[in-house]
Amino acid sequence: MAYQLTPLTNHETGAEILGLDLKAPVGTELRNALNDAFARYHVLVFRDQKLTAPEFAHTGEIFGELMSHHHKDVRASGHPEVYVVRNEQIAPGKYRIQGETFHTDHSNHPIPPKATALHPVSLPTHGGDTQFVNMHNAYDDLAEAMKRRIDGLRAVHVFESRFSPRKLRPLNEESSKALPPPGVHPLVRLHPENGRKALYLNPVRIESIVGMPEDEALALVAELMAHATQKKYEYRHQWRYGDMVIWDNRSVMHQANGDYDMNEVRHLHRIMIAGEPVLAAPPLGVAA
Ligand SMILES: [Fe+2]
Repeated sequence: MAYQLTPLTNHETGAEILGLDLKAPVGTELRNALNDAFARYHVLVFRDQKLTAPEFAHTGEIFGELMSHHHKDVRASGHPEVYVVRNEQIAPGKYRIQGETFHTDHSNHPIPPKATALHPVSLPTHGGDTQFVNMHNAYDDLAEAMKRRIDGLRAVHVFESRFSPRKLRPLNEESSKALPPPGVHPLVRLHPENGRKALYLNPVRIESIVGMPEDEALALVAELMAHATQKKYEYRHQWRYGDMVIWDNRSVMHQANGDYDMNEVRHLHRIMIAGEPVLAAPPLGVAA
């Protein structure tokens, strides 16, 4: 099937794909090509899709098996693995914007999701963009001294860190019971498909770094985050109806923006694709 792929930045973060109808059957050749593009660009933006919840879930299967969300009470109607993202009033004049600081999804899971995808149902008139930063490029640019300092370090990711920059939506009883044990993951991971190293950070969930005093660990995460969230690593997605956007949680962080009129509804459907155990990057000086 012919389609047109256009890079969205000059640093291989994000690509737009035109000319595909994701409801049509996807053969092996196309599936491989899309997975190759995904491993290279990390964020794929398929335009002009109109997908019901089951159709959206089906498109995710191009990239792997679907994975369940922590919050069991935000399922969309029509498919058990499609979830709802929307701005939510939690007190008069107070709103919770899911995903409002940079993070990677469900990193507290021992086997975090490979990918997450969103498809809009209702969009605000202005704002509500999603930003992505490329954690391969951020790693590559680190000073050698920092690469040596973080070589081999592992972080403990819990559901909500004591140091999280924002409060998460509380889990209900069913969701709490289903929560897996914390994930202990390398700070530098190896991408299993493109072979590149990436920083693996999530201040919302990182509770500690194994063997490091707390204040030192917090300062290190803050320093790495300040580096990794620079504009030169970013693709900023302005949502359009018809977008199906899928990103690689192994190679980008993302954040939502609550910069729109909260009287408007920002409502998207969300799926996740199951990953593999996080691969630690080989020690510096050893080839991947
Ligand atoms: Fe997220």
